[in-house]
Amino acid sequence: METKKETLTITDSRTGKAYELPIENETIRATDLRQIKVKPDDFGIMTYDPAYMATASCKSTITFIDGDKGILLYRGYPIEQLAEKCSFMEVAYLLLNDALPTKAQLDAWTSLITTHTFVHENMKKLMDGFHHDAHPMGMFVSALAALSTFYPTAKKIHDPEERKMTYYRLLGKAPTLAAFAYRHSVGMPYVHPDNELSYAGNFLAMMYRVAEPKFKPNPILEHALDVLFILHADHEQNCSTSAMRSVGSSHVDPYCAAAAAAAALYGPLHGGANEAVLRMLDEIGSKDKIPAFIKEVKEGKGRLMGFGHRVYKNYDPRASIIKRLADQVFEVTGRNPMLDIALELERIALQDEYFIKRKLYPNVDFYSGLIYQAMKFPVDMFPVLFALGRMSGWLAQWQEMLLDSEQKIARPRQIYLGAGKRDVPMLSQRS
Ligand code: CMC
Repeated sequence: METKKETLTITDSRTGKAYELPIENETIRATDLRQIKVKPDDFGIMTYDPAYMATASCKSTITFIDGDKGILLYRGYPIEQLAEKCSFMEVAYLLLNDALPTKAQLDAWTSLITTHTFVHENMKKLMDGFHHDAHPMGMFVSALAALSTFYPTAKKIHDPEERKMTYYRLLGKAPTLAAFAYRHSVGMPYVHPDNELSYAGNFLAMMYRVAEPKFKPNPILEHALDVLFILHADHEQNCSTSAMRSVGSSHVDPYCAAAAAAAALYGPLHGGANEAVLRMLDEIGSKDKIPAFIKEVKEGKGRLMGFGHRVYKNYDPRASIIKRLADQVFEVTGRNPMLDIALELERIALQDEYFIKRKLYPNVDFYSGLIYQAMKFPVDMFPVLFALGRMSGWLAQWQEMLLDSEQKIARPRQIYLGAGKRDVPMLSQRS
């Protein structure tokens, strides 16, 4: 039996003409609107959608989010199961290869990534050039772009082998660059990668190793960091991922595209929110100050950082996992005193009409910072930690964009509302 094609009928009140536009995946193609014209030489109708509130920019098979139900799936697998049963290396493989690895595939993948953890010695000179109090995210963004100068063949983005090398290098070297940025900020010598350790364990070693011949990460903290990397690995078309796709669509090399993505992540409305949450909790200082703080937020004098999401209108499933993870971490590190303020803040906010009406719930950043802080990461390293997990998602989304025959260079349209054509007056004639 033939299924009825779904269509949307639009009547143009200017001409009285009706148009039938096909609906596919509950979406109409914006370019189908271009046929709606008054005169034959009109450009045709466009859609206006600042901040892409209702515009799908791609078709994707990587991450699914149901924001109302609080569901997050990577390649169909629930985030809760991935966090429980897999390592970050497995999840990175899954995102890039569309299948969970077998044991042999995982071993090969992990070995390829860990043999690309070292960076060129000149990268240290780049790090040394930064001011002593440079924000590590600024250093990290710059270092990613600088990597492109060491691997000029990465420009061959249509060569699958080159692309693979980039995945190994970017996943392998990102933690090294992140740790170097931290070591520079505290005036400690850079620590070379230890390829016998796990992905998270090696990162902890590069961050914290002092004089011990072999750094042994605490297994609970190592596991917690690995889970945090998984939770941050991908989140479909968020701001930094859109930057990765958009910048990558110009066919610049992937290191520069990743630097652009990391720059987008730096902002306090995105990956910088975990840092902003800690600064906010610090500013609130004690539980008795919470009602006054909430009042200010409701008066529009600031935001409750770590709350709200463009897509989730329910509890962010990542926040629930992190809340549970925090208990394990605090057993090792001792309870973060800020946790009490955070729990009370959440309790009050979730009962408040303002937050209920707007469906504002804790997001991934609300509790992650408390764990990072308990693990002795300085606050300004938090967005860098987010970037380490998200690198796998950026690369998977970049690859999907490149291989999608419908994609072209990203180039939105505008509605021009400025002056009409006019002559330039001489300098002496301008008032
Ligand atoms: N505190 C107080 N009010 C808020 C908040 C908040 N955190 N978030 C949204 N609102 C209000 C906002 O003022 C608006 O109210 P009204 O309708 O009266 O004008 C309404 O809720 C809708 O907000 P919006 O700004 O239109 O929503 P958005 O989808 O554009 O913004 C967001 C999403 C995440 C940028 C925003 O919720 C926010 O600024 N949250 C705080 C920053 C944060 O935690 N960011 C991390 C996001 S999750 C991880 C990531 O992606 O990096």
